[in-house]
Amino acid sequence: MDVEIRTIAEHELEAWARANETAFGSEPDPDDIAREREVTELDRAFAALDGDEIVGTAAAYSLRMRVPGGADVATAGVTMVGVKPSHRRRGINSAMMRRLLDQARERGEPLAALFASEAPIYGRFGFGMATLHGSIDLETMRSTFVPAYRPSGRIRLRSLEEAIPTLVEVYARARVERAGAIELDDRRMRYALHDHGEDRRLPYFVAVHETDGRADGYVVYKVKHAWPKGIPSNELMVYDLQATTPQAYADVWRFVLDVDLIQHVTAWHRPADEPLLHLLADPRRLRLTLRDGLWLRLVDVPAALEARGYAAPGRLVVEVRDAFCPWNEGRFALEVGEVARCVRTGDPPDLLLDVDALAAAYLGGVRLHDLWRAGRVGAAVAGALELADRMLATDAAPWCPMAF
Ligand SMILES: CC(C)(COP(=O)(O)OP(=O)(O)OC[C@H]1O[C@@H](n2cnc3c(N)ncnc32)[C@H](O)[C@@H]1OP(=O)(O)O)[C@@H](O)C(=O)NCCC(=O)NCCS
Repeated sequence: MDVEIRTIAEHELEAWARANETAFGSEPDPDDIAREREVTELDRAFAALDGDEIVGTAAAYSLRMRVPGGADVATAGVTMVGVKPSHRRRGINSAMMRRLLDQARERGEPLAALFASEAPIYGRFGFGMATLHGSIDLETMRSTFVPAYRPSGRIRLRSLEEAIPTLVEVYARARVERAGAIELDDRRMRYALHDHGEDRRLPYFVAVHETDGRADGYVVYKVKHAWPKGIPSNELMVYDLQATTPQAYADVWRFVLDVDLIQHVTAWHRPADEPLLHLLADPRRLRLTLRDGLWLRLVDVPAALEARGYAAPGRLVVEVRDAFCPWNEGRFALEVGEVARCVRTGDPPDLLLDVDALAAAYLGGVRLHDLWRAGRVGAAVAGALELADRMLATDAAPWCPMAF
C-alpha cells in the first residue's frame, strides 16, 4: 500500500478534520470545523492519503512556550494526530512525526510539545513527560479554608465572549513564573476554551476577580446538573482558573467552592503544585490525582539548552542519544555563567541519557535524580547529578494550563 504524506489545501480542511475525528471514533460539528479553520496553519497540516482518501492527520501550531528563566521559545505544538482504524499500525503516524519534526527543525524551533491521548505513543519519537497535571474532585461541604484565609476584592460575572480580552491579559501575567505555559492571544484563548467534549452544549460561566478595580484572577466553569430525589447534587467543572496574586487565587477558589446548589467541584489540567492543597483545612478531601501532562521534545538540543535560564552556575557535559532525530546525538558541554552556552565537545561525559529523559527534565518538573533512580540517566562523575538538578531547578512546577 502506497500512502502519500503531504500538506493540505484550504478546500481539504473539512475532510481532513473529519478524518481526524474518525480516528477518535467521533464526528465534528460545523463549529468544530470553523474553530479548526481559525488556527490551522496549512503549511503545517499534514495528511496521509491512500488514493484520494485522507487516512491520517497530524499538524503543528507555531507556539511560544515559557521556559525557566522567563524566555518564550518557539515551539511546534503537535496536534490533530490521528490514523483511521482501517490504516493503523502501518507506520503512518511515524511517517507524519518524521515530517513534523523535520519541519520544526527547518523552521528553527528548538522545542516541540503535545498532549497525548495515550501516554505510550510519543516516547519513541523522543518526547518526554515534562509536566504532571493534577485532577481534583472536591465536595463543597468539605472545602473549609485554613483559618489564615481572609477574603478580599470582588467578583464580577461576565459572558465568555466579553471576558476574552481580560482572560488573555490575566493569563499573560499569571504565566510569568510558569515554565511550560504557552502564549495565548484572543484567538488561541477562544480555541483553548472550545469544548469538543460531551458537555459542549452546557453554557460557560466566567467570574473575574478584581482588586482596586483591576482584574487579577478568573475562573471559567460549567455546571452539570443532577437532582436525585430533588436534592441538588450538581457538579461545577473548572475549565480554567488563573490568578496573578496568592490573594486573588484563594478568593477565586473560595468563590467556586461557595456557588449554590453545587455538591462537588472538579478540575483537571491543574498544576502539580496546586496551591489549593495548602488552602484547605482538610487537604485529603481534594482527591488530587497526578498524571502525565505536557510531553516535550528537544528538537535542537543545544539551542534548547541555551534558551532557558538556570538556578545555579556550572559546567556539565551531557552525552545525548537520539535515534529519531540523530542530529542531536553526541556530547554537549553546557556552561552556565552570566549566560548559558552549549556547544559540542570531545570531553568525557558527566551524564549520559536519551533525549526524552533530557526533555522530561528540561522544564524543571522532573529531577534528573528521579530519572536516574528509574535507570534512565547514567552518571559518570560523582556530584554531576546534584549539580544538574541544582542548575535545572525552578520555583514553581512547570504547567501548561491550556491544551492545544
Ligand atoms: C495513535 C495513532 C495515531 C498511531 O498511529 P499508527 O499509524 O497506528 O502508528 P504507527 O504505525 O506509526 O506506530 C508506530 C509505533 O507506535 C506504536 N503505537 C501506536 N499507537 C500506540 C498506542 N496507542 N499505544 C502504544 N503504542 C502505540 C506502534 O505499536 C508502533 O510500534 P512498533 O514500531 O514497535 O511496532 C493511531 O492509533 C490513532 O489514531 N489512535 C486514535 C487517536 C489517537 O489516540 N491519536 C493520538 C492523539 S495524541
